[in-house]
Amino acid sequence: MSAKNGAIKLVAGNSNPALAEAIAAFLGQPLTKAIVRRFADMEVFVEIQENVRGSDVFIIQSTSYPANDHLMELLIITDALRRASARRITAVIPYFGYARQDRKAGGRTPISAKLVSNLITHAGVDRVMTLDLHAGQIQGFFDIPTDNLYASPVMVRDIKDRFDLTNLMVVSPDVGGVVRARGLAKRINAPLAIIDKRRERAGESEVMNVIGDVEGYTCILIDDIVDSGGTLVNAADALLANGAKEVYAYITHGVLSGGATARIASSKLKELVITDSIQPTEAVRVAHNIRVMSIASLIGEAIGRTAAEESVSSLFD
Ligand code: R5P
Repeated sequence: MSAKNGAIKLVAGNSNPALAEAIAAFLGQPLTKAIVRRFADMEVFVEIQENVRGSDVFIIQSTSYPANDHLMELLIITDALRRASARRITAVIPYFGYARQDRKAGGRTPISAKLVSNLITHAGVDRVMTLDLHAGQIQGFFDIPTDNLYASPVMVRDIKDRFDLTNLMVVSPDVGGVVRARGLAKRINAPLAIIDKRRERAGESEVMNVIGDVEGYTCILIDDIVDSGGTLVNAADALLANGAKEVYAYITHGVLSGGATARIASSKLKELVITDSIQPTEAVRVAHNIRVMSIASLIGEAIGRTAAEESVSSLFD
C-alpha cells in the first residue's frame, strides 16, 4: 500500500473496536496506540501514544449509540491529532448519526446533520469517509472532500450466492428509499416493488399499499437504517398479505434501538442482514434471524486507495 500523504495511521474511538481491528487487519497495519477514556464526570479525554507528526491519519468512529458520546470522542480525537501535527486527518464514520435530521421537518426544528457536519469540520478534519448516508446531499453539508461508500457490492455478492435470482423482487419499504432499492435491483437484474405508507386521516393507523405484483416472489427489502424495526416488520406483513412467498431484508445500518431485536425475532421476516457499521450487541449476535456481514474490507480498501491517491468511486463501478 503506498502512502502519498505521510505514513498511514489508524486511530479508533470506542464506538466499534471490532470493526476498527478488522480494518487494521485488512490493511496489515496495527491500530495506533491511543487512550480514549472518561474523567469521573464523563468528560472525554484522549491521549495519542505514538508519534503522528506528518502522518496520514484515519479515525475510525461511527457516531452510533450513545451518539453524543461517540461524536464527542471523534471531535476530541481530531483535536488531539491536529495538535500533534498530523499532516492529514480523515474521519471514517461508517454510521453517520444525526443523518435523519437533514432538513427542517417542521417549523422551529433544527438541521442537526448540518450542525454535526460543521462540528466535525471545525474540529480540524480534512476529509470524511462514510457509508450509505441516509441522504446523499449531506455530502454537501461538508465543505471538505466527502466520500460516501456503498454497501451494495457486499450485499449483491451475498444475494447472488444465496438466492435464485429468477424469482427475486427487490422492495423499497417507503417511497423515500426508491433510488437506493432501484440501484440494487438493477445490479441483480430483478424487478422492483415499492411500499407506499399512507395515513388517510389523523389518528387512523397507516395503510401499506404495495405498488407492484409481489405474488409468488421472494422479496428483499432494501433500506439504509433499521431502528425500531417498525418499518421492516410492517413491510414484511404487507408483502406476505399480498402473496409474497417469503421476505428478507438487507439493511446497511443496524441501529436496532430498544426492543427492535426482539421485534425482528418475532416477526415474519425470514432474515435481516445488516453490516457491522454499528457494533452489534449480544442480543443481535444471538438473534436467530439476524445476520451481520462485515464491511471491513470495503472500508479498508477505500482507506488504502485514499492514502495512495487512487480512485475510490471505481470500487463501485
Ligand atoms: C427512514 O427514512 C429510514 O430510511 C428508515 O426506513 C427508518 O429509519 C427505519 O426506522 P424504523 O426501523 O424505526 O422503522
